[in-house]
Order: sequence, then structure tokens, then C-alpha cells
Amino acid sequence: MVKKTRSVRRFYESTPVLEQDIIDLIDLARLAPSGRNLQSLKYFYSNTKTLNDKIFPTLSWAGYLENWSGPEEGERPAAYILVLKDNKIKGNDTIDHGFAAQNILLGANEKGWGTCVLKSFDEVELSKTLNIPGHLEILLAIALGKPAENAKLEKVENGDIKYWRDEKGVMRVPKRSLNEIILD
Ligand SMILES: Cc1cc2nc3c(=O)[nH]c(=O)nc-3n(C[C@H](O)[C@H](O)[C@H](O)COP(=O)(O)O)c2cc1C
Repeated sequence: MVKKTRSVRRFYESTPVLEQDIIDLIDLARLAPSGRNLQSLKYFYSNTKTLNDKIFPTLSWAGYLENWSGPEEGERPAAYILVLKDNKIKGNDTIDHGFAAQNILLGANEKGWGTCVLKSFDEVELSKTLNIPGHLEILLAIALGKPAENAKLEKVENGDIKYWRDEKGVMRVPKRSLNEIILD
């Protein structure tokens, strides 16, 4: 599952992601490890065109792909989950959202959905357009939908970690080798 769970940035936009599926994924996020068990994360989700159309323009896609500014109409995500931090719950829990997001990605993969985590977004604009209360900070957006592209893992060559899209539209994603990451 981990090997198959790659970032997807093009989707069959007209295939809906059901609300119950999204709630199931948030339920997996709810059970993720949490520093001091503070559980300060909250979630906002969208699976309607009206809300999706508010979220999409605030996002930035695939910074390493030159000449591609993001999915076209028809291949955009059918749903989003936003991971928020509730700043009314005080404490040093800056890593929880990574664990929660990975639970969502794996759960979505099991259901056959593609996902992409996005951190590059206009937080002020996103918060405003969705009327997110001020004490909730948007940490991550997770795009969801039926995948319309494939990805293949590659070896990192000459230290180059930049992913690329090949002539068949397949995402090629370099990962560092075990030799490189395990200390002698
Ligand atoms: C914290 C974080 C932030 C990310 N932000 C973005 C983003 O803003 N836009 C985007 O297109 N992809 C984003 N990604 C996806 C990464 O580009 C992707 O995980 C990486 O290229 C490796 O590909 P893989 O997920 O298929 O292993 C983000 C991933 C993580 C974990």
C-alpha cells in the first residue's frame, strides 16, 4: 500500500467522492498518534462543485513541473479534506498532521481514491473564502478523487530529487536509496 500510495494530481473530476467515504477517512485520521495526545486537529471537507471551486484557485500544484500549472477543468479533484489546527488547544504538537494525513492517504488508497497532499496554498484567501474561524489554522489540503494518472518510483540519480512526467503522462518520482539514508 505504501508503495502504491503516490501523489496524484489529475483525476476524473466527474466521479464523485461520497461524503461517507470522506468521513471514514477522517475517522482514520482521528485515530492517528498525537503528541501528548492533545488531538488538536480539526477537519473541513468538500465534495461539491461550489466548495471545490472556491478551494482550487488557492492551491499550487507540482512546483517541479515546468509548463504545467495544475489540473485542467475535468481533471480536478472531486473532493478535498483540509487539516486544521485548533489553536484553542494549546501545546507543542507540530507533527501530528503528518501522521493524520498519512492515515487519510492510505485509507483513500484502499478505497481506490488518488490523493495529493498540498502545503502550497494561499492560507488567508482559503480561510476567508470558506469562512474558517480565526482560531483554526489550515495546515494541509488533501486533494481526493478517482486517479487519472499513474506514478512510478525511480532511483535518485546524481542527487536529483525532482519528479517529472514522462511522454506517456506517467509521473516519475525519485526516492533516495536505502544505502543513502541508513547510517553505517
Ligand atoms: C508536506 C507536503 C507538502 C506538499 N505540498 C505539495 C503542494 O503544495 N503541491 C503539490 O502538487 N504537491 C505537494 N506535495 C506532494 C509532494 O510533491 C510529493 O509527496 C513528492 O513529490 C513525492 O511524491 P509521492 O507522494 O508520489 O511519493 C506535498 C507533500 C507533502 C508531504
